[in-house]
Amino acid sequence: MNSQTILITVVALMAWSALEVRASGAPGGWFAIGNLTDPHVIEVSKFAVAEHNKQANETLVFDGLINGEVQSVQGTVYRLRIDTKRIDGAYAGEYEATVVEPLPSAITETSSLCSFRTILYATC
Ligand SMILES: *[C@@H]1O[C@H](CO)[C@@H](O)[C@H](O)[C@H]1NC(C)=O
Ligand SMILES: *[C@@H]1O[C@H](CO)[C@@H](O)[C@H](O)[C@H]1NC(C)=O
Repeated sequence: MNSQTILITVVALMAWSALEVRASGAPGGWFAIGNLTDPHVIEVSKFAVAEHNKQANETLVFDGLINGEVQSVQGTVYRLRIDTKRIDGAYAGEYEATVVEPLPSAITETSSLCSFRTILYATC
């Protein structure tokens, strides 16, 4: 590891810490989610699909996270682009979900799905 690589790593860690800190305090901007396989982010994505299914009486299945952003405002707001399939495995489209998690890293019954709209067949 040369010193430049180390510097980049340190800056990345500091940026991550800042994001963590901001999750409990002041409002911030949108940050791209760097690791789309992070178990918590996947949990939030699955929560969005499950909530949508409850609200719309559908049976969509989470089929992958395409990309996502987070904003920290007294908790975390997630804006996620999610691929879905039907229970028979057929592709069911891409959706943009907005999830509010009031406390950092606590996807519970206090979290809420604010929107879940299709991207490929947009109606609004
Ligand atoms: C992303 O998160 C997963 C699960 O925590 C981990 O296994 C993987 O190494 C991470 N990838 C990167 C690039 O940090
Ligand atoms: C939900 O969907 C199922 C299957 O399509 C249907 O049988 C049921 O009546 C629906 N329930 C409501 C509350 O619309």
